[in-house]
Amino acid sequence: MRSVDNKINLQQKDVFEELPNFNNDFFDLCIVDPPYGASTTKKWNYDGNQKLKGFGGDWKLTSEVWDLLSQNDSFQSTYFWLKELKRVIKPTGSIWIHSTYHNSGFVNVCCQLLGLEIINEVVWYKRNAFPNLSGRRLTASHETILWVHKGCEKKREYVFNYEESKAFFSSSDLLKEQGKQMRTVWDIPNNKAKEEMQFGSHPTQKPLRVTERILTIAGVKNGNLLVPFVGSGTEMVAGLKYGMTVFGFEIENEYYNLAKARLEHALQDTRTQLFQAI
Ligand SMILES: C[S@@+](CC[C@H](N)C(=O)[O-])C[C@H]1O[C@@H](n2cnc3c(N)ncnc32)[C@H](O)[C@@H]1O
Repeated sequence: MRSVDNKINLQQKDVFEELPNFNNDFFDLCIVDPPYGASTTKKWNYDGNQKLKGFGGDWKLTSEVWDLLSQNDSFQSTYFWLKELKRVIKPTGSIWIHSTYHNSGFVNVCCQLLGLEIINEVVWYKRNAFPNLSGRRLTASHETILWVHKGCEKKREYVFNYEESKAFFSSSDLLKEQGKQMRTVWDIPNNKAKEEMQFGSHPTQKPLRVTERILTIAGVKNGNLLVPFVGSGTEMVAGLKYGMTVFGFEIENEYYNLAKARLEHALQDTRTQLFQAI
């Protein structure tokens, strides 16, 4: 679907096939929430008993088909999409990549191999993380977000809304002081507001607040935002509300429809309407 003003460009397609169609240096910002490769490959069900080799069986994020990375191993697919993102992001732009320990090593190494400079590693601290039910390991209560750009050390051109990031305040963040520099640990509870779930939910749906913080730091009004793995549409909705033109891909019909509903609603909120199918 595409909005009449072309502000929203959401497609139910495989992003690996579509990325090569974009011109070089087209996007101002890219926010990636990729499959973490945390699903079991043994059997697709929801009983929570499947073991994931190397990570124990207790990290039971999901048994979603899209998280299996069956064709490409995680390293190969990560390398592929990061290489393409490096090509399509502007020198003034930046890429934000969500990860957990399942894929954070791959992402970091791929960035280094591709010459993407890591600006910061952000720790998203989830104060209200779900307890570890087996009691055999610590409660996983953070995710890692890498902020990277493609410039070189001598020519760092990436957008950093420094004053906005200093001015940022959220009453639910016990670490950020208004008027003080933004730090790399963000205290953002993982719960979603009722409106974020009103059209349904996604198993790994992020709260809008995480993307809103990213946009405060690196958003570009009227710029182009790419969301390669859309899910329920969180990053696209936040980008649209911020004032960016949003592009995204979701391969699963159920999540494509969910993201579409959320985006239509967000667009109504911003007082523009009328959609046309593409
Ligand atoms: C981690 S989830 C994104 C969740 C999202 N941040 C949210 O808040 O809802 C990743 C999504 O990527 C989709 N996906 C996986 N492989 C894909 C591909 N090759 N092309 C397009 N979408 C894909 C999955 O269906 C899944 O919904």
